[in-house]
Amino acid sequence: MAAGKGLEEVVAAQTAISDIDGKLGKLWYAGYSIDDLAKNSTFEEVTFLLHHGRLPTRDELDELTEQMVNDRQAAAFLSHIMPTLAEQTSPMSMLRTSVSAASAYDPDGWDQGPEANYRKALRLIALMPTLIASYDRHRKGQAIVEPNPTLPHAANFLYMLTGEEPSQEFADAFDTMFILYADHTMNASTFTARVVASTLSDMHSAVTAALSALKGPLHGGANELAMRMLEDIGEVGRARQYVQDLFARKEKIMGFGHRVYRHVDDPRTTILRPVSQALAESVGEPQWYEIAREVEAVAFEERGLRPNVDFYAGSVLHYLGLPEDLFTPMFASSRSAG
Ligand code: CMC
Repeated sequence: MAAGKGLEEVVAAQTAISDIDGKLGKLWYAGYSIDDLAKNSTFEEVTFLLHHGRLPTRDELDELTEQMVNDRQAAAFLSHIMPTLAEQTSPMSMLRTSVSAASAYDPDGWDQGPEANYRKALRLIALMPTLIASYDRHRKGQAIVEPNPTLPHAANFLYMLTGEEPSQEFADAFDTMFILYADHTMNASTFTARVVASTLSDMHSAVTAALSALKGPLHGGANELAMRMLEDIGEVGRARQYVQDLFARKEKIMGFGHRVYRHVDDPRTTILRPVSQALAESVGEPQWYEIAREVEAVAFEERGLRPNVDFYAGSVLHYLGLPEDLFTPMFASSRSAG
């Protein structure tokens, strides 16, 4: 029986894919600390790690990279429905619908063997940035940018969005974002995916359901709302009052609080804070970082609340040039690896 809210203290499943120590503020993927992975690996390596429980050899990494590059292209049917989706739906709804529709075009069809499922998973991981970028360019009336096979996963995503190869700093920062969002044990969307998979349903159905869970503002939507809050505050001098007013109205402050990291920093925040600071300088928009620091200070002083991954992710993704409503789809695209 649950002692707390939600699934607190309920053992829903055992996993070696990732592990959290909510008291120490530590996160590991397959035994590797998130700090080491963010510093020394790439999203492609992390994708291999999450699927195999170990880091790849050079040949294995090359093979996975080639596979993912080949799987970036969207099936003609998906390209065909994209203009309608771009006009009629939100980006997360587009992603949910497109992933569901992609099942009709998966070369492995209804094969649910472990090898076919692995290939299906890699295809979805590879495809999501293409879907998101093409959605964004359609709604802006811009020509679609084909994937660039010479670029890594994260850099290619930025390239397809903007039509320009990103700087090394942007590519690295985005790759870090991809690594940090890739897994987080039994969160709401992963749990949803596992419930669907446990009925022996299929990969596309599980991911479609997970996307539906991630869409909600208390899970994946918080990064977007965190950035919108910084913009709403507008200048550092207004941050204190703004946060105090939120608390007085008993509203939640987005990007703060965590079910697991209650009295310690979310380790992903510790990694993202300096990334946001560096980008603030490079982009020449220091205000978002400065407002974020002030919000962080006031939330802690007033309620002992600490930022979660989504808080600094908001400003980082903004600095990287992503429209706010693509923040959660980006999170989804990364989390599909886990
Ligand atoms: N703003 C204001 N008060 C808060 C917040 C917040 N962001 N988070 C927690 N609290 C308060 C809450 O009102 C409660 O106060 P009281 O005891 O007086 O009723 C106390 O802190 C405990 O909160 P809780 O609701 O029991 O915490 P929870 O563990 O159930 O919820 C949470 C965790 C993440 C849903 C919640 O902190 C929240 O809604 N945060 C804002 C949304 C957000 O940033 N979501 C991203 C989560 S991290 C990414 C992910 O893994 O999905």
